[in-house]
Amino acid sequence: MYRNNTNQFFRVLAGLERDPQVRRMEQYTQHKGNPTLRHCHNVAVTSFRMAQRLGWRIDESAMARGALLHDFHLYTREKKDWKHLFRHPRLALRNAEALFSLSQKEKNIITSHMWPLTVLSVPRSKEAFLVTLADKYCAVCEMRGRRNF
Ligand SMILES: [Fe+2]
Ligand SMILES: [Fe+2]
Repeated sequence: MYRNNTNQFFRVLAGLERDPQVRRMEQYTQHKGNPTLRHCHNVAVTSFRMAQRLGWRIDESAMARGALLHDFHLYTREKKDWKHLFRHPRLALRNAEALFSLSQKEKNIITSHMWPLTVLSVPRSKEAFLVTLADKYCAVCEMRGRRNF
């Protein structure tokens, strides 16, 4: 069974989490008041664990970067703002691209994370597919009060 490089994954993740611009996600919340930065961390860790569990070889750096920045939209959603569900992946990408130079794979991880809701933004890699799954799984857990993964 293939083992991905855990050190590489967490090194990239921790590096991004120290970035003051990325840390702005701490000021916003989602899923019952969970800080967005925490949610993004949870999604990153969960998607990496899924890859390990499945024995899927993934790009550790792309997964860490794409997953951590997937909700980099920098606002707290208003309760009835349904458009947010469709719009925020593009906003997250725009903010992320202003700070980092992203690979096609990393861009697709961000823009496709709401798939299948965003019908045309399809996950095009194992990494992107796992992040869409982990995002939904973490959202449910966080709604039920779980904060840390
Ligand atoms: Fe999202
Ligand atoms: Fe999310």
